[in-house]
Amino acid sequence: MSGQGLGDFLRGYEAAHPDDVCTVERPVSLDQDITAAVWELADRGRHPLLRFTRVEGADREVVTNLFASRPRIERVLDAEPGELHNAYQRRAAAARPMAEVDDGPVLGRIDAGDRVDLSGLPLLTHFATDRGPYITSGIVVAEDAEGGRGNLSYHRSVVASPTSLGTSLHSRGDLWRLLQDAAAAGRRLPVAMVIGAHPLFMLAASARVGFGVDEREIAGGLLGEPLEVVRTPRHGLRVPAAAEVVLEGEIDPAAEEDEGPFGEFSGYSSDRSTRNRIDVCTIMQRRDAVWLDVVGGNSHEHLNLGRVPREAEMIAKLKDRFGSVTAAHYPSSGTHFHCYVAVDQRRPGEARQALLGLLGWDPYLKTVVAVDADVDVTSDAEVLWALATHFQPDRDMIVIDGLPGSALDPSADKQGTTSRLALDATRGEGFDAQRIEISDAARTVGRQIADRVV
Ligand SMILES: Cc1cc2nc3c(=O)[nH]c(=O)nc-3n(C[C@H](O)[C@H](O)[C@H](O)COP(=O)(O)O)c2cc1C
Repeated sequence: MSGQGLGDFLRGYEAAHPDDVCTVERPVSLDQDITAAVWELADRGRHPLLRFTRVEGADREVVTNLFASRPRIERVLDAEPGELHNAYQRRAAAARPMAEVDDGPVLGRIDAGDRVDLSGLPLLTHFATDRGPYITSGIVVAEDAEGGRGNLSYHRSVVASPTSLGTSLHSRGDLWRLLQDAAAAGRRLPVAMVIGAHPLFMLAASARVGFGVDEREIAGGLLGEPLEVVRTPRHGLRVPAAAEVVLEGEIDPAAEEDEGPFGEFSGYSSDRSTRNRIDVCTIMQRRDAVWLDVVGGNSHEHLNLGRVPREAEMIAKLKDRFGSVTAAHYPSSGTHFHCYVAVDQRRPGEARQALLGLLGWDPYLKTVVAVDADVDVTSDAEVLWALATHFQPDRDMIVIDGLPGSALDPSADKQGTTSRLALDATRGEGFDAQRIEISDAARTVGRQIADRVV
């Protein structure tokens, strides 16, 4: 078996970057302690990969915060610093078919029938406002009825009974579409939920790709070798052979299960949910399984994991289509709803054209801002300065109504229908002001003084 497991990754990563992994040996509870530790560390500018070895009520180690740091995601992708998006795009474009194998660690322990009991799993409660403990790293695998083309997507899930989960398909992506197809055909949709796998599999799962594009093949591209898969016992769905835990089951399109509220990426507790139910018939686990949690809310981890593949795709698309675009950035302050674009505008209107392209392509975006290429789009402060000094509302603002956005935006209606805003904060023609400057010689003196003062 090759090193496609989370454990293989953790061992290799910790050996290479011991300072970026923090093992917490003091006892913590399943109820919010881990979220609180992540929040406290983030307030101090620290985003280590966290391993909790003594979690009261958990029969295994809990690993979390894996995606909280972008430099760490770069290392996972073997990318040079600053090359995150290019590396993701390059590897994702080299998608490879899966390799089906007969055996794998996830087949180490299989509980089916009467032995299925979800209450034994060490789910965390992330926020005081949550309905209860949640699976936050669950990746649902589903396949179409004809060709077995698969889809991967994340779905928050709560244990509703020993054999069922309440879940939400509010993104209304490809899993939602597969479920509608199953409903039209009068059948239940077989699914498998992967909880804990190699981080490159997890990144691929968050990509929003065309219907029929199988993210398991993208995972193969990111891994640089075919994803090794085994079939689940009842429905034969192909899941990573080296996964930590896999729950196999079915979604009955007609069944409802209450779930939510849950602390979402918006920073709000949301009960907007499609209230679906997964009936679980099999639990598959490695013998040495750890519990992989994704930090909830608008944590760095949740935002990065949801965003990196999308940013990579959008930045590549923008630069490919609009030659004047020099950079783009999705600021964390805007959760998934804002993007800043830098343009080196050669003729009037180019910035607006790029903004309209972006608003059309990325359904999560609500406000996009264009600035000139000398403005650092990774800095909220610089973009807001450009907005303050270059932008006139009557002239530089485009609003488009009635578009499908995120149902988790509390200001949008319950279906997520939203309007979108493009703000052109480039200087534009006829702009007449001189930006203040300090000479290089004076800057050298300033640096010398500052070095002595601090
Ligand atoms: C950590 C994380 C949790 C997510 N939770 C949910 C969820 O509970 N429900 C949902 O519909 N989408 C959720 N999403 C978004 C979908 O997984 C994402 O849009 C997915 O890529 C859709 O893919 P698809 O169009 O291939 O189905 C989550 C994403 C991430 C990264």
